[in-house]
Amino acid sequence: MSDQKTPTLVIATHKGGAAKTTTAVNVAAEFGRAGLKVLLIDLDPQANASLHVGKQHPANVPVTMAKLLRGDVALLPDAIHEETTLPNVSLIYASIDLDLVNEDLRNSAPRPSEELKMKLEPVAGLFDVIVIDTPPALNLLTRNGFAAATHVLIPVESGSQYALYGVTDLLTVMNSIKRINPSLKNLGALLVKHDERQTVCRLLSQLAVESFDTVVPIRISQSTKVNQASISKVSISMLDRSNKVAREYTELADYLIDEMGLKRTKSRKKPAPRKSDRKEAEA
Ligand SMILES: Nc1ncnc2c1ncn2[C@@H]1O[C@H](COP(=O)(O)OP(=O)(O)OP(=O)(O)O)[C@@H](O)[C@H]1O
Ligand SMILES: [Mg+2]
Repeated sequence: MSDQKTPTLVIATHKGGAAKTTTAVNVAAEFGRAGLKVLLIDLDPQANASLHVGKQHPANVPVTMAKLLRGDVALLPDAIHEETTLPNVSLIYASIDLDLVNEDLRNSAPRPSEELKMKLEPVAGLFDVIVIDTPPALNLLTRNGFAAATHVLIPVESGSQYALYGVTDLLTVMNSIKRINPSLKNLGALLVKHDERQTVCRLLSQLAVESFDTVVPIRISQSTKVNQASISKVSISMLDRSNKVAREYTELADYLIDEMGLKRTKSRKKPAPRKSDRKEAEA
């Protein structure tokens, strides 16, 4: 069964504002740009990924993740929306009532961490890759993300002195899921909002190496273009392909394509070289 599982990347950390959604959306966009057929799943009641790439407001979507998790697997085709603002990326919307589903699963589901995995079984073979965004919590929604995934990526905000608080709990939850999902692979920490010139960022990257077995070799810098892209409902590449963070997300997607054994169908055009990356990162 696990051999047939669609390669599935869950982006998770209990820390709020650590760029989970930004990473999920931009990695999904870059996978799509490489010609892969992508399903983006929003597991966060805040619905930020849905607001970013969805063409509808989550409140107007009849079959959201909440309805799918509570309901029958037959709802799956209606839950998948092919129309998003990103080429080749389909979306299962989140909505605010996902918070209540977290409680429902705890109280009544026979296998509370495996509802998503079961609901996704029929998508096997329909997508090249699935990307899951999760809430800033080590709750049942996040556990469902771990149980349904093949790979985990943990964004770590490198400019924050509190970035590594609770890492042991995060790793404990992830490892506990390995009992039901033994092939889950931890791709390690992804340093985000990174600025090599700042002492705290350099310190954090050393500590991240000690805390996680693996730290992804690509760092994501800071740029105001990240916010601009989400306001404009596009990826950073779509807004400005030569932006430093856009290029870093392209490199990250290429790294993940290799790590997850995905087969790209299109080669991307390389952006023109720039005079100064540093100015761009500060823009
Ligand atoms: N590389 C970056 N440079 C500048 N700002 C960034 C960068 N990455 C993310 N941000 C900004 O940081 C904020 C938090 O990012 P994001 O929403 O992706 O985090 P999150 O982990 O999904 O948050 P939550 O825990 O609330 O779900 C957003 O305003 C986003 O635009
Ligand atoms: Mg988020």
